[in-house]
Amino acid sequence: MKIVMVGSGYVGLVSGACFADFGHEVVCVDKQESKIAALKRGEIPIFEPGLTELVRSNAAAGRLSFTTDLAGPVSAADAVFIAVGTPSRRGDGFADLSYVYAASREIAQALGRYTVIVTKSTVPVGTGDEVERIVRELRPDAEFAVVSNPEFLREGAAIEDFKRPDRIVIGTEDARARQVMADVYRPLYLNSAPILNTSRRTAELTKYAANAFLATKITFINEMADLCEQVGANVQDVARGMGLDNRIGGKFLHAGPGYGGSCFPKDTLALIKTAQDYGTPARIVETVAAVNEQRKRAMGRKVVAACGGSVRGKTVAVLGLTFKPNTDDMRDSPSISVITALQDAGATIRAFDPEGMEQAKAVLPGAVTYCGNAYECVEDADAAVIVTEWNIFRALDLDRVRTLMRSPVLIDLRNIYRGEQVREKGFVYADIGRGISDPVSSHAIDAA
Ligand code: UDX
Repeated sequence: MKIVMVGSGYVGLVSGACFADFGHEVVCVDKQESKIAALKRGEIPIFEPGLTELVRSNAAAGRLSFTTDLAGPVSAADAVFIAVGTPSRRGDGFADLSYVYAASREIAQALGRYTVIVTKSTVPVGTGDEVERIVRELRPDAEFAVVSNPEFLREGAAIEDFKRPDRIVIGTEDARARQVMADVYRPLYLNSAPILNTSRRTAELTKYAANAFLATKITFINEMADLCEQVGANVQDVARGMGLDNRIGGKFLHAGPGYGGSCFPKDTLALIKTAQDYGTPARIVETVAAVNEQRKRAMGRKVVAACGGSVRGKTVAVLGLTFKPNTDDMRDSPSISVITALQDAGATIRAFDPEGMEQAKAVLPGAVTYCGNAYECVEDADAAVIVTEWNIFRALDLDRVRTLMRSPVLIDLRNIYRGEQVREKGFVYADIGRGISDPVSSHAIDAA
């Protein structure tokens, strides 16, 4: 199959490289010339485990190529995927669809034979209808169908998620398009991934419903964590006790500093807006989004409390800046709110992240001192805060950390340590929702 990816960002690049790895002939298109030039040299603009090797090997095999020219590859394509950005629009939080519509117009002009146009970007319900209208208006003669095929890729595990998905959702009412999509995903059928054929609007909504539900699950356990702290219970045990019920499931029940990233915050806002527009407000999701925002800010107060009520004139070491490990992505990361709150309260900030430092410099407030590693970061600090659960923070030499710090206060916003293990090293230790340190309650729930 001949496939074109319009937009060579995170989703486009991962999907394009994986489709090429299935044996399809894939062309990734992007407007940004410097990005395409770098990709041609085998340089990958984002950090995603395994992606560099996948891109290079498929490019070398002649199945994956990069260009700024959309028209040529689209005219010969079986399927054209739209994988451009859909940022939150300033003001109302609704997804900004200008890139999707601009791509649709360009694709329309270039259409040759029967082509399936696929929206891969997360787009609000009804966007497929609008894409179809735009293309039809510009090219009444063209033979095409518009399909919704949302992605469910987690950053840091995107290739695994693409190749071994829980399900594939294909939204179209057009039988011929459904056949083309079946051929595109044929290699995954062999892996027995469930395929869900739905209407286009159903597919569009499924993506938002899934992300909003996961965000709700996280926010629910975060509130239980706060309650655990007050009543003296252990949230990890509560989560395990809940999650072993198959109807609930153990994943996405890790209490923490609140969710961030490029999807949950944006997609919950977009769903809230859609639901309001249609006169059926999604009140649970509205509350989830508001509670999560408050939580990120509350984490700063938690650090202040662990420091005895004030951080004025103190130095706080922040370990981990990205919204989660194995990514360099800083979008809506809780670290931004934590650092801002601590600086507002008069603290000096030192910070370290294994992959996200460059991105962090672009979004964090000024006056942060960036350090080369975790030990340099905690030097002379009055408190250290683990914001992101990178593996290297799980195995810190705590004796060395204590000796380096001015005062040994550790705030573990990801519960990666056991309280007694850290306290017996002489630390003041604060965590999330483990109100009473219980030596038998050390098991974590299954990793999400
Ligand atoms: C998410 C969805 O998982 C994916 O299917 C969708 O396509 C895009 O959005 P991603 O944003 O990459 O993927 O990260 P994810 O691993 O889902 O984590 C999102 C946020 O939730 C992170 O900030 C993470 O720290 C937080 N989280 C996740 C928790 O706080 N607790 C959990 O139990 C799980």
